[in-house]
Amino acid sequence: MTKRVAILISGGGSNMVALAQSMQGDHPARPVLVLSNDPQAGGLAKARGLGIPTVAIDHKPYGKDRAAFEAALQTALEEARPDIICLAGFMRILTPGFTAQWEGRMLNIHPSLLPKYKGLHTHARALEAGDAEHGCTVHEVTAALDDGPILGQARMKVLPVDTPDTLAARLLPLEHALYPAVLRRFAVGDRTPVMLQG
Ligand code: GAR
Repeated sequence: MTKRVAILISGGGSNMVALAQSMQGDHPARPVLVLSNDPQAGGLAKARGLGIPTVAIDHKPYGKDRAAFEAALQTALEEARPDIICLAGFMRILTPGFTAQWEGRMLNIHPSLLPKYKGLHTHARALEAGDAEHGCTVHEVTAALDDGPILGQARMKVLPVDTPDTLAARLLPLEHALYPAVLRRFAVGDRTPVMLQG
């Protein structure tokens, strides 16, 4: 059975595009929804261009009421009936109540070599620490932020001239290779980690 994949974004959606474009031919999954918490997210137009249904649920009117925002999220997701949810640059923290409903079925890509640098500003933090290596991680989403079982990592060398911006730019193509490779395995129940070297 082909797996149904919903992709959650907040921005430009380059990882979403890489995932969506990978789900073709004999791939075991297909994209059924791209959802953003930001109605202005550039990725929404890209998804529509790829023929994928989109939904925007603006988090701002909900203020601090995360439960109400997540209830709206849940309704939209239940309508799309995804087997797998991919967070792809989705920049809202999800509560344990929400993640529990999708545990084992929700993936995230994070721009660091977890368990290093959970949260924000990962590129700057890797530079400040003097790390020789940086990278990205795809993991299962659990209640704790950026913390679930690791399904894949892509590594690259940090260069003496690197800045947070150059690190981010050099890492993005690795993210676009890693996330589809993990999803292809995950969609057939294979959780063997994918390890890539940039
Ligand atoms: C990516 O670098 C992704 O790893 C990061 O946001 C970017 C989204 O880019 N995600 C996080 O920081 C999650 N905490 P994209 O919209 O072009 O895919």
